[in-house]
Amino acid sequence: MSNWVDATVKKVTWWSDTLFSLIVNANVEPFEAGQFTKLSIIEDDKRIARAYSYVNAPDNPDLEFYLIKVEGGLLSPRLAQLKTGDTVLIERRASGFFTLGEIPQSEQLWMLGTGTAIGPFLSILQQKEVWQKYTHINLVHGVRFNNDLSYQPLINSLLQKHPKQLNYIPVVSREETLQGLQGRITNAISANSLFTKANLIPAPTNAQFMICGNPQMVKDTTELLISKNFKRNRRREPGHITVEQYW
Ligand SMILES: Cc1cc2nc3c(=O)[nH]c(=O)nc-3n(C[C@H](O)[C@H](O)[C@H](O)COP(=O)(O)OP(=O)(O)OC[C@H]3O[C@@H](n4cnc5c(N)ncnc54)[C@H](O)[C@@H]3O)c2cc1C
Ligand SMILES: NC(=O)c1ccc[n+]([C@@H]2O[C@H](COP(=O)([O-])OP(=O)(O)OC[C@H]3O[C@@H](n4cnc5c(N)ncnc54)[C@H](OP(=O)(O)O)[C@@H]3O)[C@@H](O)[C@H]2O)c1
Repeated sequence: MSNWVDATVKKVTWWSDTLFSLIVNANVEPFEAGQFTKLSIIEDDKRIARAYSYVNAPDNPDLEFYLIKVEGGLLSPRLAQLKTGDTVLIERRASGFFTLGEIPQSEQLWMLGTGTAIGPFLSILQQKEVWQKYTHINLVHGVRFNNDLSYQPLINSLLQKHPKQLNYIPVVSREETLQGLQGRITNAISANSLFTKANLIPAPTNAQFMICGNPQMVKDTTELLISKNFKRNRRREPGHITVEQYW
């Protein structure tokens, strides 16, 4: 059977001029929360394919993706033209190791993401497992502008369901913040304001970090945490920092 199948667009939600979500229905293989698949179109007999993280929980047949329309990009501006009822190709089999099964048990889980990279965390948070595995879960979303803080209805419903267990900390870099912290996630870690805001003191004995999104943010945050005695998490050598880069 082909690795690519047709997906029918069920819903398109625009959060801002550049940020949007697609819900599609397709006969894909089961995936794990935190994994990604590929979306693709064929143009002039050539395939254009890119990776996108699942936002929905694995048991939800409405397959959801959160995208940014990258100006001058090859695929995302084309995906931004999709309307309800259109079809797009989707890779049947998901990939990736940015999943809870790869993250050791601990007291605190820190989910640090920039831009559209909040997606895999939202998938993980819509599953039972994470709430059973960690006592304190911190969803930290670094964006340029307040308007880039999409998915507020879902996040608010998670906060209502788990008021004691979940902290949501937006970090806004290019204007005054309406909620959360001002600046970059890296500054908030260096200045300790992130941990003060959550009222938690992460240490290698009690915390795990998942970091996703802008590759420079992933690199800088990893280095910062290593300087605080946290270690990269590897299958053969478990540590505290698990990462995924979006480009
Ligand atoms: C594992 C993985 C998962 C991914 N999941 C998502 C996802 O869920 N949602 C999503 O929007 N993208 C995601 N991406 C990025 C996505 O695959 C494409 O790179 C993106 O859609 C741009 O494709 P393009 O063809 O339009 O632009 P390209 O011509 O490929 O241009 C790429 C440039 O666009 C910028 N860029 C790419 N992705 C992003 C982004 N997400 N946010 C800000 N700037 C970006 C970078 O400057 C990059 O150099 C993921 C990438 C990887 C590797
Ligand atoms: N978001 C928008 O409204 C907007 C508008 C126009 C164009 N775009 C296009 O969209 C893409 C960018 O999308 P985006 O805003 O989602 O992603 P982004 O550029 O990765 O920015 C997301 C967040 O990550 C922060 N960041 C960047 N590098 C970092 C680092 N090394 N350490 C810590 N934090 C870091 C940014 O802070 P800084 O702000 O300090 O960089 C911002 O808060 C580009 O292609 C851009 O041209 C976006």
